[in-house]
Amino acid sequence: LVARHYRATSFTALDYSSDLLGYQPLRAAIAGYLARARAVNCNHDQIIIVNGSQQALDLIARLLIDQDDCVAIEDPGYLGARRIFLSNGAKLLPLSVDENGVVLEQLYNLTDQIKLIYLTPSHQFPTGAVLPLSRRLALLDWAEQHGAMIIEDDYDSEYRYSGRPIPSLQGLDRNGAVIYAGTFSKVMFPALRIGYLVVAPEMVDLFAHSKWLSDRQTPILEQIVLTDFINSGQLERHIRRMRTLYDRRRETLVRALQNHFKDLVTIIGESAGIHLMARFELKLKDLEVIERASSVGVELIAAGQQYLKKGDYREFIFGYANLSEYKIQTGIKRLAKVLLNKD
Ligand SMILES: Cc1ncc(COP(=O)(O)O)c(C=O)c1O
Repeated sequence: LVARHYRATSFTALDYSSDLLGYQPLRAAIAGYLARARAVNCNHDQIIIVNGSQQALDLIARLLIDQDDCVAIEDPGYLGARRIFLSNGAKLLPLSVDENGVVLEQLYNLTDQIKLIYLTPSHQFPTGAVLPLSRRLALLDWAEQHGAMIIEDDYDSEYRYSGRPIPSLQGLDRNGAVIYAGTFSKVMFPALRIGYLVVAPEMVDLFAHSKWLSDRQTPILEQIVLTDFINSGQLERHIRRMRTLYDRRRETLVRALQNHFKDLVTIIGESAGIHLMARFELKLKDLEVIERASSVGVELIAAGQQYLKKGDYREFIFGYANLSEYKIQTGIKRLAKVLLNKD
């Protein structure tokens, strides 16, 4: 495939790229995919290929945050984003989330000038809440009135198991206030390290030069192969197949947790994504739960790490995408045994 590409174009593709935004055919393929799948409204010249969303967040933070700028973040929220903002001198303002995602009333009462708001609206990390259309529109209004920019991290929006898809914030925005970050880490695999930023036309140069300064470019061979994978229709077929598979694994996990833990468990945010959160009504500390789970080969993440204020929240993140139904069933059985002290 790569040899065919080089014959069709020229060997200069092996040199430093003259296209600072990334491989143009890949950007065109992503623009088409985003329009179909996420109602993202952009031209391919607004897309910058990056090494995963982590690089997208790093570029955003370095370019847009000055010392002591206020950045509003979801609480609990994604540590990978929080640490990047902090390391670039941001003052963090936590916004709590409910079963519908970020609670907007908190923004209305703030006296600080907010520079950026970082959100995971399609599937709040880690609670799994999906931000409804009414809150999306209210948020965009608020951002426009207050001159704030929104970072939409759409890391796993492809996996939604019930309800109608809600258009991305970027697609609803009419003021260029949204920076959209996407990744192939969840639809393909994390080690691929390919993601993309969608920015307003007037910000493209800034981001492109910053990416060039940071690491020159994202590796070309992977970009060429990925372009072919998208244009041949295989990416969307793969996503459809995986959605069915993950849905079955998700259902198996929910059923196993409910069967074994009965009213001692509350399941949160299972309608989308590739993880869910479970709250246990147990007297054990979070660390004790993690250690007992690990002793029987079950790897859990305590959601407490994702809160700004540390504590025992008794909430745990269960990833299920790469586990067979059998492994899920037997894993939860072993977990129940060590957490409930059953024989
Ligand atoms: C909220 C969130 N954003 C982004 C990512 C993906 O990051 P990357 O594209 O750098 O692999 C993750 C991965 O777990 C995540 O949880």
